[in-house]
Order: sequence, then structure tokens, then C-alpha cells
Amino acid sequence: MTTLLIRATLILAGSELLVMALLSRVELSKPLAVALDPLLMVAIAIWPLYLLMRKERRRLEKQEALDAKLHGIVDNLWNASMNTLSRDAFLAAVLRELLDTSAIPLQRKGAIFLQENGEFRLKAEVGFSEAERQSCSAIQSGRCLCGAVIESRRPVYASDVDDRRHVRTGGGRPHGHYCFPILSGNDLFGVLTLYLDPGHRRDPAEERFISSVCAIVARIVEAKRLESSLRQMQKVEALNRFAAGISHDFNNILSAIRGYCDVALRGLPGPSQAAGDIRDIISVVDRGALLTRQLKLYSRQWPEEYSVEDLNLVVKESSEMIRHLSGAGIKVSLKPYSEPLPVRCNRGQLEQVLLNLASNARDAMPGGGEFRLETSCREVGFPGKKRSMTAAVIAASDTGSGIPQELAEKIFEPFFTTKPEGAGTGLGLAMAHSIISQHGGEITVSSSQTGTRFDIYLPLRGGSEEPEVLEKDL
Ligand SMILES: Nc1ncnc2c1ncn2[C@@H]1O[C@H](COP(=O)(O)OP(=O)(O)OP(=O)(O)O)[C@@H](O)[C@H]1O
Ligand SMILES: [Mg+2]
Repeated sequence: MTTLLIRATLILAGSELLVMALLSRVELSKPLAVALDPLLMVAIAIWPLYLLMRKERRRLEKQEALDAKLHGIVDNLWNASMNTLSRDAFLAAVLRELLDTSAIPLQRKGAIFLQENGEFRLKAEVGFSEAERQSCSAIQSGRCLCGAVIESRRPVYASDVDDRRHVRTGGGRPHGHYCFPILSGNDLFGVLTLYLDPGHRRDPAEERFISSVCAIVARIVEAKRLESSLRQMQKVEALNRFAAGISHDFNNILSAIRGYCDVALRGLPGPSQAAGDIRDIISVVDRGALLTRQLKLYSRQWPEEYSVEDLNLVVKESSEMIRHLSGAGIKVSLKPYSEPLPVRCNRGQLEQVLLNLASNARDAMPGGGEFRLETSCREVGFPGKKRSMTAAVIAASDTGSGIPQELAEKIFEPFFTTKPEGAGTGLGLAMAHSIISQHGGEITVSSSQTGTRFDIYLPLRGGSEEPEVLEKDL
């Protein structure tokens, strides 16, 4: 408003000067000049004043339209977040809502990328061709306009396609961009990119509007993330109590059955049909005992023997065990890090995690393939964790069938299995997750049709984050 008043005053003052200059050139009687002066001044000032007022009215109308749209979006997004929409369906709804904003000259095209396992992956898009979906499936810091947002954590604007754009798929219409960070506090959750009509001039009102939408999206994505980890924790806790309750009694029953089987076997004179049947019972009982072992591990009844071990050695010894279990069609390869990787761990539990990963890999490669174990050392940060940590990393990858994206979110849930009844309990990865969390670490998965990779991060002894969490959690 102040700017408007200053501009109006300047226009009036300018007009007055112009009138005075005009009148001084024309010989007029004084009374006529006094009468003409205000009339001329108003006539000269009125056109720029009219233009100024019109511009201001348009600005206010646009602001009103954007505010109304923002209210609508908040309402719709809030409803969408309350119902059972998955996170990605919710993001697609956000994009559609935004692209319906007539107050900004947007093309019907845009995308949302979210951070996942340290990468910014395409999660929702509108108007992308197959080639664009492929080339923009993930964005890297510093590359393209969206990459510039990751680097600077600030909005990036382009009125036309310029040299900052690295991905060129060809065939697209000329356009400009608004690329915005999706931030919650200091955490960069993702990036939103919108396609503008070419030559559009950046507008602070539009930028405020898009920033507000991004802030809402960040809050809702964060809430969804917390909600799902809370659900997961509740399930894990319920299962822990259940497992703790039954594993002990169940093991006693199995030991008794096995004992009676041994006695019965000893009582039989030699090889017979009955002896074969009893051996079958023993092997089923042994499988039951293995399951009880898993339950004990899961419910944290396992002896808490922690020691500092070189992760290279733990992985090397496990790989030998895995080679025996995997069968002839599967090549097990190992690439240890060049230096020792001291971590504080329960060796038995870590071996169990690697066995679980290897047994899943074996099941995913019925026609054979490769299971690779690689260790390394990295500085990593995870969303929701305040500090980054220096981690000893185990990457366990296979060349199997992969995990469809819609299932990847569920695989760490207890009892989630895609295996036929009786073939899988769905506890392998839940247990792996529970054990790695108890060690103060993280486990992540990435998968495609050509295989799956699990990354296990454990705090490196002497690294930036000592595993005090471990003692607290146990
Ligand atoms: N390497 C992998 N390749 C393909 N799918 C996998 C892989 N690892 C896990 N999965 C999927 O994740 C699901 C859950 O795995 P998890 O180990 O928790 O249970 P499970 O293997 O089904 O049963 P259990 O391990 O208790 O015998 C599997 O059923 C499978 O669909
Ligand atoms: Mg399994």
C-alpha cells in the first residue's frame, strides 16, 4: 500500500511539473492558467494512475484467488491425509490440485520427488512421457533445476529452458519452471517441480503460495511416516510380548517330543518304516526348534553378549555358512573393505540377519544367480535422525526377481510374506530390522526387476556416533 501511495504521489508530482512546463510555454492570462492548471494536471495524471490502479487491482484479485485456492488445497489435502490414501496417491492428489490453479499460468505437467534411502526418487508426476519418467526417475544434487534445489534448499526459477537443465528428452513443449524444496525444519523431504508457460515472470505471490503448499505436504508426509513407524512399533511390541510368552513353553514341548522320538528310535531293532517316520518327526521338530530360536531372537530373549568385532570377519565367516546353505546354482561372492571395520555387536544376531537375507535371496533366485556381500565405510544421515553417523556398511545384493515397489514398504512388517502358506512366516526381515535397530543401526532396501539390495548401517566404533543407543535400548 505504501509503495502504491508513493507511486501515485510521484505520478501527481510529475504531472504537475509537466503542466507547469506546458503553461510557461503558452502565453495565457494568469486567471486562465490558474483554472487550467488542475484540469490539465488531472488529465495528464489520470492515465498512468488508471494503469497503476488496474495493476494493483489485478494483483489483489490474484492474491485472493491464490488464498482461496490455498484454503481449498489445505481442506482437500487434510481430508486426503485422513483417509486411507497411500503416501504416493496422496502426492499425486497434491499435484493434481496444484495444476488446477488457474491463477498461475501452469502447463498441465509437474512432479514430486521424495527422499528415500539417501536418493530423491520420482514419486508422483502428471504429464510426463515414458522417456521423462525414465530419465527423471531419480534426481542428483546439483544436476538440473531440481538438483539445484537439493543443493541450495531454496526455490529455483526459470522463465525458459536454459543451460541449467541437464536432462533433455526432446519433444517437450517450451516451458519455464518453478522448482521448490519440500522442507520440514532443516530436513529436506523432497522437491516439487511445476512447468510454466514460457516467458512467465516470477511472482512473489505465486512463490509464497507454492511454498505454503510444500510446507503442508512436508507436514503430512512426515505425519504419515511417523504414523507408519508407530504402527510398526506397536505390531513389533505386541509380537514381542506374544513371542516371549510362547517361545519358552513351546521349546520345552519340542524338547520333550524330540526326547520321546530318540527313546522310540533306540527301542527299534533296525531300519524300518516306523524308524523312517520317527526321523521325519525329528526333522519337523528341528524346524520347529529353529522357529523358536527366531522367536527368542525376536523377543530379545537371546543372551546379550556384545563385543567389538571386525565386521569384515563377521561377514566373511557368515559367507562361508551361506555358501553351504545356498546350493550349487547360487554364486556367493564377498568383497570386504580394505580396512578393519570395528563395530560393537552381538555376533550371533548379525549372522542371523545375514542368513535371513541370504535365504530370501535364494528364494528369489530359483533358477540360480549371484548373492553378493560387500562391506564399506560411509558417512550417512537418515531422515528423522538429528546427526549423521560414520557407519560400517554391509551391502547384501542378489540378482533375483526383485520386490515390486508397492510391496517394498511392507517387507519389514512382522508376518508379511508373499510365500505360499507354510513356506514363509514373514518374520525374517522383521527380525533383521529389529536386530539392526537394537544395534543403533539402520537397514534399507532398494529393488528393481533385476535384483534386490539391502544396506545395513552400523555405528562404526570411534566414528562420529558411538553406539550408546545400544545400551539404552536393551
Ligand atoms: N531378496 C529378496 N528378493 C525378492 N523378494 C524378497 C527378498 N527379500 C524379501 N523379499 C520379500 O519380502 C517378504 C518378507 O520377507 P521375510 O524374510 O520377512 O519373510 P519370508 O521370507 O516370506 O518368510 P521367513 O523369512 O519368515 O521364512 C518375502 O515374502 C518376499 O516377498
Ligand atoms: Mg525370509
